[in-house]
Amino acid sequence: MASIRVKALADLATGAMARVAVEEEDILLVHLEDGVYAVSDICSHARVSLSGGWLEGDAICCPKHGGKFDARTGCAIAFPAFTNLRKFPASVRDGQIYVEVDE
Ligand code: FES
Repeated sequence: MASIRVKALADLATGAMARVAVEEEDILLVHLEDGVYAVSDICSHARVSLSGGWLEGDAICCPKHGGKFDARTGCAIAFPAFTNLRKFPASVRDGQIYVEVDE
């Protein structure tokens, strides 16, 4: 695993999410009250970018059909999404967001 700096924390407000490209992966960063989380940006239902969606509390809502995923775990929590998103370890150090990806 490699720890990759992806964004300054100051550029991702609490309650916001943003897509970043890391290696071959499109990753969605989600800044919740208790930290920053990273999951696959691609909806597991019909492969659209979740970055065009919105947050409802801790749930990522897909812009295409309204499926929902737990932002902390990537687990699918509302139909028609039923396959979990891949989760990536994320951390904040010195004001920068890091995501761990396979090398
Ligand atoms: S494409 Fe995301 S719920 Fe259908």
